[in-house]
Amino acid sequence: MRRAKVNINDRFNFKSRGYVVGELIDAGAFGKVYECKRIGAADWDLAVKHVELSASEAQIIGVDAEIKILMQLKHPYIIKYVESFTPDNYNICVIMEMASGNLRDILKEKKEKQERLTEHEALVYFSQIVQAMSFIHSNNVIHRDIKPENILIGLDGKVKICDFGVSR
Ligand SMILES: Nc1ncnc2c1ncn2[C@@H]1O[C@H](COP(=O)(O)OP(=O)(O)O)[C@@H](O)[C@H]1O
Ligand SMILES: [Mg+2]
Repeated sequence: MRRAKVNINDRFNFKSRGYVVGELIDAGAFGKVYECKRIGAADWDLAVKHVELSASEAQIIGVDAEIKILMQLKHPYIIKYVESFTPDNYNICVIMEMASGNLRDILKEKKEKQERLTEHEALVYFSQIVQAMSFIHSNNVIHRDIKPENILIGLDGKVKICDFGVSR
């Protein structure tokens, strides 16, 4: 039997919420992140993270933990939250600003071209990461999963910490 592939646009009725979802950008351990934009917009300037929780995960963490934390943390070096939908108790869709990529992929691409970050670039990123962490901690939040995959570089070229999925 052929099963029709249900597109995330239809599954969560993004159109009725004013958005279009495009290609998959990347998938982490929990979420799938797609390009996204407001209907009629020219550029894919947003990203949507879809997380599907298992019944046991839903019981332990609940759908709104990551959203609550991200909503609260407004900082130039933290990915900007736009809005979120929890269609049911197991699904989370978080719309956020688009970034250009994660630090793991950026470093990998450089390596393949036998390049590396300049000392200055590394210092600038490091300083921005430290400032973001300091801000996160001053809000009594711990990220608990800082690694290159969760450090994005924004369209403005600056660090954008993402993935508050296991934060407290
Ligand atoms: N706003 C974004 N813009 C561009 N890419 C993103 C964005 N958010 C996440 N990604 C990409 O998707 C990956 C997975 O997202 P993440 O929130 O870390 O999910 P998980 O909880 O599954 O690790 C990231 O490592 C990054 O490559
Ligand atoms: Mg991640």
